[in-house]
Order: sequence, then C-alpha cells, then structure tokens
Amino acid sequence: SAIFLQDYKAPSFIISRTELSFELFEDHALVHSQLHMQRDAGAAGPLVLDGQDLELVSVAVNDVPLTSAQYTVDAESLSIAELPDTFVLSCTTRIKPQENTALEGLYRSQKMFCTQCEAEGFRRITYYLDRPDVMSEFFTEIVADKGKYPVLLSNGNLIEQNELPDNRHQVKWHDPHKKPCYLFALVAGDLVSLDDTFTTVSGRSVVLRIFVEQKDIHKCDYAMAALKKSMKWDEEVYGREYDLDIFMIVAVDDFNMGAMENKGLNIFNSSCVLANQVSTTDDNFLSVEAIVAHEYFHNWSGNRVTCRDWFQLSLKEGFTVFRDAEFSADMNSRTVKRIEDVKVMRTNQFAEDSGPMAHPVQPPSYIEISNFYTLTVYEKGAEVVRMIHQLLGAEAFRKGSDLYFSRHDGQAVTIKEFVSAMAEVSGRDFSQFMNWYQQAGTPEVALKGEYDPSAQTYKLTVKQHCRPTPECKDKKPYLIPLAMGLLGANGALPLYLGDDLDAEKPTHRVLEVTEAEQQFLFTQVAEEPVPSLFRNFSAPVKYQYNYSLDDLQRIITLDEDGFCRWDASQQMAISVIHRVLAEMAESPAPTVDSRIIDAHSALLDEAISAVTGNTEADLHLLAYMLSLPSEGYLAELKTPIDVEGIHFARNRVKRKLAAALKEKYRTLYVKLADATTEFSVDAAAIARRYLKNLCLDALVFAADEAGVELCKAQLHHANNMTDELSALRILVHNTNPFIGDVAPYLEAFYQKWKADSLVMNKWLAVQASRPAADALASVSSLLKHPAFDKNNPNKLRAVLGTFANGNPIGFHARSGAGYEFFADQVIAVDARNPQIAARLVAPLTQWKKHDEQRQGVMRNALEKISRVEKLSKDVYEIVSKSL
Ligand code: ARG
Ligand code: ZN
Repeated sequence: SAIFLQDYKAPSFIISRTELSFELFEDHALVHSQLHMQRDAGAAGPLVLDGQDLELVSVAVNDVPLTSAQYTVDAESLSIAELPDTFVLSCTTRIKPQENTALEGLYRSQKMFCTQCEAEGFRRITYYLDRPDVMSEFFTEIVADKGKYPVLLSNGNLIEQNELPDNRHQVKWHDPHKKPCYLFALVAGDLVSLDDTFTTVSGRSVVLRIFVEQKDIHKCDYAMAALKKSMKWDEEVYGREYDLDIFMIVAVDDFNMGAMENKGLNIFNSSCVLANQVSTTDDNFLSVEAIVAHEYFHNWSGNRVTCRDWFQLSLKEGFTVFRDAEFSADMNSRTVKRIEDVKVMRTNQFAEDSGPMAHPVQPPSYIEISNFYTLTVYEKGAEVVRMIHQLLGAEAFRKGSDLYFSRHDGQAVTIKEFVSAMAEVSGRDFSQFMNWYQQAGTPEVALKGEYDPSAQTYKLTVKQHCRPTPECKDKKPYLIPLAMGLLGANGALPLYLGDDLDAEKPTHRVLEVTEAEQQFLFTQVAEEPVPSLFRNFSAPVKYQYNYSLDDLQRIITLDEDGFCRWDASQQMAISVIHRVLAEMAESPAPTVDSRIIDAHSALLDEAISAVTGNTEADLHLLAYMLSLPSEGYLAELKTPIDVEGIHFARNRVKRKLAAALKEKYRTLYVKLADATTEFSVDAAAIARRYLKNLCLDALVFAADEAGVELCKAQLHHANNMTDELSALRILVHNTNPFIGDVAPYLEAFYQKWKADSLVMNKWLAVQASRPAADALASVSSLLKHPAFDKNNPNKLRAVLGTFANGNPIGFHARSGAGYEFFADQVIAVDARNPQIAARLVAPLTQWKKHDEQRQGVMRNALEKISRVEKLSKDVYEIVSKSL
C-alpha cells in the first residue's frame, strides 16, 4: 500500500471555510464540523474524506441529514457520491482523546488536551480532506469544564468568550490565514502563561504568550527571549514579519517529536521549551533556542508557503532547518554550530543513507509518511539549501527567497518552485543540482594531489561515486561545491587556477565539481602544498585524501577554516585509532603514535593561554579538537563494525592522552573552574563549561585520585545542570578505585530531582548509556523504576533510545540479549504508539553492517517483530524494508 509521488492528483473539492466545534468531556469528545465545499470545475467522482478511529454520529448536506444509503464509511474514509457543486457538509464525530496513546490527533497529555495533526493526525479528529494542498479558513469553538480547563486555545485570534450552564465555558477562535488542516491546533488545560510583546518592523505590537502548567512557570524566560530574537532575526535576515496579533507556545509533556509549528499556536514537547540554570544543560539551552526559532520560522517557510503533498516535506523542513542553523550560528559560535551539525550528518544521516531506509531528500514513495521525518529530509535537506546559498552568495539567495515567498504566498507548492526562484534570480541552471533532491545515498569523493616542483603546478584530481540505492541504480554525477585552499609550510598559498592570475591572490576558492572525474590545475605554486578540503563542510559527502599525520598537523595549526582544523584533528585521531585497532590482534599494548599527543599538548597550551587572557581562541572549538571521534562515527567508517575493537582502541588512545597530558588538563580545569562561578548562557560561558568538563573527564579517565575528588566536589557544589550532570556522568561512566560505588551518587541525584521529570530523563539516560557489557541489566530495571513511564515518549527515548543509539557495548553485547530485549520493547511500544516504535527500531535495521554472528541475532530480532499480527504501518514499513 505504498503511495507514489508520480500519482499526485489535484483535489477535486476545495474547502473554503471550516467551522469546528469541540465539546470536551472526561471520557470522550464530540466534534461538530461544517465544511463549506466546492467541487473543482470539471472534476467528477464522489467526495472521499479521510477519517480514522472516528465514530460517525451524524452527517448532513446543506442541513439535510443523509440516510445510510447515501454514504459509505470504512476504516479510513467517508464517501458521498451525490453532491451539488457547492454545499455545506456537516458532520459530528465522537472521539476518545483519553484513550489516544498514539499521540496523533486530539489526545490527552497529563491533565490537558492537546493536538498533533502533522502529518495525518487531523483525520483522527473529524472527516476531512487531510492533505496539505487543501487550504481553508478555520473557525474553532471549544466548550469544556471551566474549572478543569480554564484555558482554551486554538489558532488565530480570540473572537468570543461565554459562560455556559453546568460550570462550562465556551471560546471562539478565528484564523484569518488559509491553512491546511495539519496546521490546526487545540489546547485545553489548567495553564498559566509568561507574557510579553514584540513590536514588528512595521510597528505592530504582537502579544507573545508561553503557556505551561503552574509547576513550570519559572522555566519560560529563556524560550521567550529566544522567540523575540527569532522574530527580529527573521525580519532582518529574510525580511519576514509576523502576521497575527498573538503568538502562542504551549508546553506539553507527552509529545512524539520536538515541536509543531501550528499557525499562531506552536505546541512543544516540554523538553524543547522549558529551561533554567539549575535544571537545564547547555546543550538543552542551545536546542531550546534552535527549536523555538525553527518553529517560529515555519510561519513563513511552511505556513504562509506550504507543501503541495508530503513528498515535498523537505521544502519546508530542509529550508527551515537551514534557517534555524544560520540563526543559531549568528547567536552563538558559528564554527561550533557547524561542527555540531556535521557530526549529526556524518554519524547519523550517513548511516541512514547507507542503510535499508535510504531515501532521497524528495522521496518518490512511502508507506507511512511519519517514517519520512528523517535526518535525510531535515538535515541533508538543509545541507542542500546551504549549497544553493553557497553557490548563489547571500545576496542572490535573499533575492531568491523573497521571490519565492512573494510569488507563492498562500499556496501549496513543490521543491521545484523553490529551486526555480533561486534559478531565476541567479540565472543559473539547476538541472544537475536537482540530483541532490532525487538521488539517495552519500556521494563519495576521492581526491588526489600531484605537485610538480619544476612546473610549479599542483594538480587536484577529484573522483565522485555514489552507491546504487533502490530508487536509483545508476547515479548521475552531482554538482559538488568544493570549498578549498592550499597550505604551504608557513600558511595559505594564493590560488591561481590555470592561466587565471587573479590579482587579489585569493586563498580560498569554491570549485564546482560536476563530472565523475575531473582535474583542477593550480599554477605558480611555490612549494608542495597540503590541501584544505571541503571547508566548512561545503557538501554533504564522504571525502578521502591520503593525508599524512604531518599534513594533518599543518591543517590543525595553520588553516583559516575552523571546521577543517577540527576535521583534521578528527582524521588524525581516526588514523591513530585505526592503527591501534590493527595492532590489537598481535600486541597487548599497541602503540599510540606520539604525534597525536604532541598535537593535543599544543591545543591544551593554546587553551591555557586563551583562558589566562593572553590570547584569543574559540575554547569550544579547541575542546572539540581535543575530543576523539565518537564510537558511533568510528562505526560508520568501516564494515563489518568491530564494536568491541572500536571501544577498546578508542579508550586506549584516550587513556594514553589523558595520562600523558594530565597536568595540563588539571591546570586548565582549575583555571576554568575559577573563571566560571558567575552563570550565563552565552557562547563564551558555554565554551568554558564544555572545556572544563572535558578536562575533568580526562582526569577521571586517567584514574587520577585528585581528579576524582574534583569531580565529586563539582557534583556537590555545581550551580548549574551542565556541571552537575557532567560530574555525575563522569563518575557513572568510569570505573577506577578512587570512584568507588556510584549507587549513592545516583540515589542522591534522584532524591534531589525526582519531582522534575525533565531532569529525570537525563538521570535515566546517564544510566542507559553506561558503557558496560552488562548494561542491559540496569536498563531493564530502569523500566520498572518510578521515574520511568512507558507512555511518555521522552522516557522511552531516554532509556530505550539511549541504550540502542548511545551504548554500543551494551546494546551489541555478544550474547544478543540486547537485541532480543529490544525487539520485545519495540513490539510493546508499537501497540500503543507506532511512531515512537518505528523510531526505536532503527538501530536494528543496520544489521548488515555487523559481523555474521551479530547479523544473525539482529535479523532474528527483526523477524520476531515482523511476525507480530497487528503491526502498525509505521513499524511494518521499516522492518519489511530492512529484512
Ligand atoms: N513540523 C514539525 C517540525 O519540524 C515536526 C512534526 C512531525 N510530526 C510527525 N508526526 N512526524 O517542527
Ligand atoms: Zn520543522
């Protein structure tokens, strides 16, 4: 039952006006709808409305009730054959939000009612044309108990409020902007709000309200500040002004995803909006800022201009992720944000691209659209938009986005319209570029350099290749922007391409690679250079150049591009770790190349000098350069994955570094601890805390007794969650004689924070990620702990998601017990919440990358899931495509 892009047909009916009335009760809800509909000129056939898990109470056309012979209802639709060209369809459905554990449509989260309609949740509320190209003006009335649900919200502006008998009340909302039903939202609850205002560039005052339960009201300020910054940034950078008199955010505890951009009424997973000093880590602060911005930016890229169909999902998501990434880069450290995003691409998106669910940024077909809210559609989609930005330059890109927004305002369009606007303003031909949208898989780029000392030339040969994927067996070459420079022994060399002796002596160029194999000849190259390649990660590709450790050291020390300095540090670490891995078979104590110790020693000196105030440096970047690549990324590099080998080789290098550089780590830790008593959440403060905790980790990892004491002291005296949680994690994830039993630390943390569900998620995740072959035992006991809740997606992610994605040693334990346990959990979750189950199952689908023995047990686990009788479409699609 797959759906194909090529089968797209425009709707035969439109719904110009949608009037909804909700009556909320404790065991059910009644939804009355009046849809003002017109048949599209020339369209024939019956009206087929989408509906799922609905009880149809009544249906009428132009106020005349239909007899059961006049319509048909099945599990997914309501069809009516005989209809005039213009009519009002009235429907009443009864639904059970209280029993809705899928968290799609109208559901209950703790004591409130809320909705999640994207992608196809609205059909669980009432019969409708649940597709994004049907846009309508919404009027929403809500009636509920006044005591339990004093706050009743929907999209747009509040137009009426009335008291009713029996302690009930009624509110009416009107959204003047036409929208598809996936942007509809309703909230009813006992909520309080943090209120503020924003004055737009044209001088309109907008009321801003963040609604939360009373217990969370002290955690709203950060999101409010982020919202105001986002509104300003979108005016300045994209010329986009907000278009209603009120903008609301609601925090809910039970939410499948991060947040949702419903028009004027964004609904957030509470973990993505609540934040304060004592309970929130720096990572969380940054992601709250980014997600608030992301959802706000959707008001233009998604809501004012929306998607024609769900194959166009990246039209709004790729573009909006690019927008939020640039916003975060402007608010914080640009280089650090870029590195963060590249880590996600390389570790997670590349894995998706090389696995059985590989799909293009614009997928050609799907069984369940919820499965396509992926890293490919979001993050790779954003990389594709970033390449357009790179090719056009900021100015032309802005012209293109202005054209796109003005030309398509109020429309539901496709990716082609977006690219056409960019093509038009730049005069560029984007036909080859479209391969980025249509071909799945990660392009692999092999580069080779040849220096000719007598001719003073440097020839760069570039070859690209992309593995076949189901939708495309024979990949056409991509247009790959290759941002690069050449480094001499003392710094950047001027780049002359062929005869073009540019008087500006540029040290940076963006080459456009378009062929399967291509050469670039640089002239007047005075010495043998080391190339700095894919600066700022100028294309989402895997690239390979045969660097020596000395080449990498040159890039680390001299390159102007922060991303490439970091990348070189990672490549150096990878090559040292791979060498240890290779030697491990023969030797109990494989050698760790001393050049990595020298490199890290120099980086630590650079950091110490910056902290002492003698020099300037991005401490966060230095900390990232001092970090070894994750086990997840190392696993991505070589198949079959040597799970234990990677763990032990990486740890061996890490231990060597920690032992050799202990005193520098200590010096830096002490200096940073002194400098970070005042708490703030700016990039510099975040960098200091990050580096400080990296030093602490190294000291404890080196089994340094004094270091362990510093860690315990930090756990007790921390005035912020970043420091407190880092200390806890370091103690729990390490074993050495000075640490002793960690149970009391976990217990004390639990007692201190058990009333704060979001902090409890972190506490659960620290334990689920403890790297040990017997981690499964603690993971299964966490499922019985009072801090766990099997119906809450955040808890499921904290325990099961963390175990499978962040604990390779535990999850992939040889016995296969981790897989078996996991299959049972996926099956249990699927019966309640298919979307979450489908996300959890992903790590098992990577089975082909493991050794034969593991392949067998992982496959068995998948087969067990596939044999379940009532498997959801969501899990079915993923499991069947991966077997
Ligand atoms: N549009 C939302 C966002 O990107 C995500 C909604 C996802 N919903 C889903 N059912 N997969 O901000
Ligand atoms: Zn989004």
